[in-house]
Amino acid sequence: MINRVTYRLILLIALSGAPLVQAEENATAVDVDFLPLKRAVRCTAAKCQLPNCRCSGLRLPSAEFQGREQEIPQLITVTFDDAVNVINYEQYQKLFDGLINPDNCSARGTFFVSHEYTDYTLVNALYQQGHEIALHSVTHGTGTDYWREADVELLMAEFGEQIEMLMKFAKVSRKHIRGLRLPFLQSAGNNSYEAAKRLGLLYDSSWPTQRYRSPAMWPYTLDYRSTQDCQIGPCPNAAIPGFWINPMVTWLDTAGYSCAMIDGCIYPPQDNVDALFEWMLENFNRHYEGNRAPFGMYLHAAWFQRGRHHFDALKKFLHYVNTLPDVYLTTASRVIHYMKHPSLGKPFNGCPKKPQTTCIKRSCGLRKVETGEIRYMNVCDSCPSVYPWLGNPFGQTEY
Ligand SMILES: *[C@@H]1O[C@H](CO)[C@@H](O)[C@H](O)[C@H]1NC(C)=O
Ligand SMILES: *[C@@H]1O[C@H](CO)[C@@H](O)[C@H](O)[C@H]1NC(C)=O
Ligand SMILES: [Zn+2]
Repeated sequence: MINRVTYRLILLIALSGAPLVQAEENATAVDVDFLPLKRAVRCTAAKCQLPNCRCSGLRLPSAEFQGREQEIPQLITVTFDDAVNVINYEQYQKLFDGLINPDNCSARGTFFVSHEYTDYTLVNALYQQGHEIALHSVTHGTGTDYWREADVELLMAEFGEQIEMLMKFAKVSRKHIRGLRLPFLQSAGNNSYEAAKRLGLLYDSSWPTQRYRSPAMWPYTLDYRSTQDCQIGPCPNAAIPGFWINPMVTWLDTAGYSCAMIDGCIYPPQDNVDALFEWMLENFNRHYEGNRAPFGMYLHAAWFQRGRHHFDALKKFLHYVNTLPDVYLTTASRVIHYMKHPSLGKPFNGCPKKPQTTCIKRSCGLRKVETGEIRYMNVCDSCPSVYPWLGNPFGQTEY
C-alpha cells in the first residue's frame, strides 16, 4: 500500500503533468482527503444509513413511519436570501414576533446572507435571537455564468471568506455556520459541493426539484448517486460523503408553473391577503396532507414590496400554521438534525440555546477599493480600513 504523501504526489503529477518540485509545493494547499472525487454509485439503504448517510428519494426518514405519516412532525423552513439591512430587519422582527412552536421553542428562520450592503450588527441581532445565519457568498457574482463556471478555489474563497466576515463582523460562531445557498441557485456541478464540503459545511439548499413535488423529496446526502431531477445544471455526480442536500421542493403558481423561490413564481395570486393565504395553504397541504417532507418557504425581503398585502398574507399564513399542533417553524440545520435523528411526534429535545455574544456597534464609512465608491457598513467592535471584499475579507489596508 502506498502512503498518503506518495499517493498525493502521484496524483498531482497525474493531474497536472507538472514537475515533481512544483507538485510538492502545490501539495500543501490541497486537502488529500477530498481527492480524487469518486463517481457516485447507486444508493442502497443497506450501505447508506443514518445518521450520516441517507439515499435520495421519497422514502420516509424511518421505515417504521410507514402508514403513520400523519404522526410525522411537519417542519417548515422560512428562509430569506441576500443582504440584511435596517428595513428588512424590522420586517423579520414583525414576521417572527409571537410565533411559538408546539414544543414552546421560538419559531426561527434561516438567513442566507450575502456580504454587500449587509449590516453585520443586525446579523448579530438575528443570530442572538436564535435564527440561523447561513451563506450566500461575498460578491453574489455577476450572473449565472460566474457560478456555473466557478472552480473549487473561487467557491472556497466566496464562501470561506464570508464565514470569516460573519465571524469577525457579526460575532457568529464558526460552528453555527452550517449551510449555503448558491446565488441564482446556480451550481458548478461537483465543484460547488466539493467546496462546501471542504469548508466543513453540513448542507446545501440550492437544488430545486420539480419532479419530486408530490410526494415531496426528503433531504439526503451525496454519498451515493442522487436521483433528484437536475433543473439548473450542472448537478454533481461525484460522491461527497456526509454532505446533505436540502432539496428546494418547488411550489406551483396559479397557472401550474413551478417555482423554487416564492418570489420566482410567474403567476402568483393577486395582491390580496386571502388569495395569497389560500395559495400558500394549497402548497403547504401537499406536504402536510402528504408525506410530511419538510416544507420550504424561500423568499427575498423584496417580495414584501410586490404588493401592499404580501407581508400581511405571509404573516397570516405563519400564524395559521403555528396553531397546528404538529407544525414546527424551524431552521434548515435543525431540519438536517431531525433527518439524522427522525422521530414521530415531537421532533426535537429541548430548545436550541441562544448564543450570547457582545457586539459593540461601529458605523464605518469605507472605500470600496475596486470602484472607489464609499460604502457604509455597520460591524461589531471595530471598523476595517477599506470595504471588505473577495480577497480581502477583513478590509485591511494592503500597502
Ligand atoms: C464529477 O466527479 C466525478 C468523479 O470524479 C466525475 O466522474 C465526473 O465526470 C465529474 N463531473 C463533472 C461535470 O466534472
Ligand atoms: C408550553 O407552555 C404552555 C404554557 O406555559 C404549557 O401549558 C404547555 O404544557 C407547554 N408545552 C410543552 C410541550 O412544554
Ligand atoms: Zn441572492
